[in-house]
Amino acid sequence: MQTFIPGPPMGTATRPPNPPAEAGMSLLEVDTPALLVDLDALERNLARMADLARAAGVALRPHAKTHKSPALARMQIAAGAVGVCCQKVSEAQAMVAGGVRNVLVSNEIVDLRKLDRLARLAKAARVSVCSDDISNVDALSAAACAHGVSLRVLVEIDVGARRCGVASVETAVALARRIASSPGLSFGGLQAYRGPAQHQREYEGRRQAVEEAVGRSRNVRDRLLAEGLGCATITGGGTGTCDFEATSGVYTEIQPGSYVFMDADYRRNRNADGREFDTFEQSLFVLATVMSNALDNTVVVDAGMKALSVDSGMPLVVGIPSARYVRASDEHGTLELPGSLRLGDRVRLVPGHCDPTVNLHDWYVGVRADRVETVWPVAARGPGF
Ligand SMILES: Cc1ncc(COP(=O)(O)O)c(C=O)c1O
Repeated sequence: MQTFIPGPPMGTATRPPNPPAEAGMSLLEVDTPALLVDLDALERNLARMADLARAAGVALRPHAKTHKSPALARMQIAAGAVGVCCQKVSEAQAMVAGGVRNVLVSNEIVDLRKLDRLARLAKAARVSVCSDDISNVDALSAAACAHGVSLRVLVEIDVGARRCGVASVETAVALARRIASSPGLSFGGLQAYRGPAQHQREYEGRRQAVEEAVGRSRNVRDRLLAEGLGCATITGGGTGTCDFEATSGVYTEIQPGSYVFMDADYRRNRNADGREFDTFEQSLFVLATVMSNALDNTVVVDAGMKALSVDSGMPLVVGIPSARYVRASDEHGTLELPGSLRLGDRVRLVPGHCDPTVNLHDWYVGVRADRVETVWPVAARGPGF
């Protein structure tokens, strides 16, 4: 006979599970694998980016796709940001639920259920969204009218990334005109983000890529102004290039995300003087425990692909220069190192790519001087919808 094992009562949340740590714990007591944030380094990153934007006279709207945490978004706003960007409606919902009142979905939202959720959100916050298609503008207008709200819509233009965004000045102007004349919508300006430029290794390559993006944005802006449509905002720029957009005289807003945490891949970018890109500090780590040292010159830790994203390369091992993280399997991470570590030893790993690493975890463990100060849920984690 089959035994029936009851599930949790209806409506009982099963996620997120208990946090891996509590305030006051030492690092040795934290359950691993855990997503650590060095709060001192994080706060310095927040202040540095806010200073950069302030000095250039542009608005800072950090991208919350990196951290997916309203707690962190509120820190960014307290440091001077006007609001945040999100990539998904689900992220925007988590931000608004967590008290953020100004959200730009820096993306195209197409299906009807998502449009409905987006419009509902505008009852509680100032909501902006991007579009690159006339029929999508009409759908945005219908959703806004159905809920009696106003959505601010930016026309996304392709500035060389060849992802979303219209290619021609004429199409951008036609879209802006349609937005401006649609009930429930207001025309906010241009989304002009050049993604691949962020990780171009050489400084000069990044500078040239943004110069081209600035030129394309300026052309569209000038036509919009000539047609009397206005162009209050031109927004774009990630961690790798936003100093160029900020000082371009054309962009009015920057939207960097990864600067809060950094990662091994961003560190491989080069500064103007050829040194590694060290404008921002590494503040995000995965804490792992040695679970096997049975083989010579090898240790295995409890952080594999389910705790770390390896799409942009393997993690780096902090403080053990001879150690190399060479292989990630589902739950195991294999390190080569001459000599060994003891069972139960802890290692800190710098993820290759911060955003997808964060997305694997339910909790952040905020630490200062090796003591847990706080835990935050990764409130908007998940595949995104
Ligand atoms: C539209 C948009 N803006 C800003 C960012 C932030 O870029 P980064 O995390 O490199 O700072 C991204 C990242 O993918 C993005 O897609």
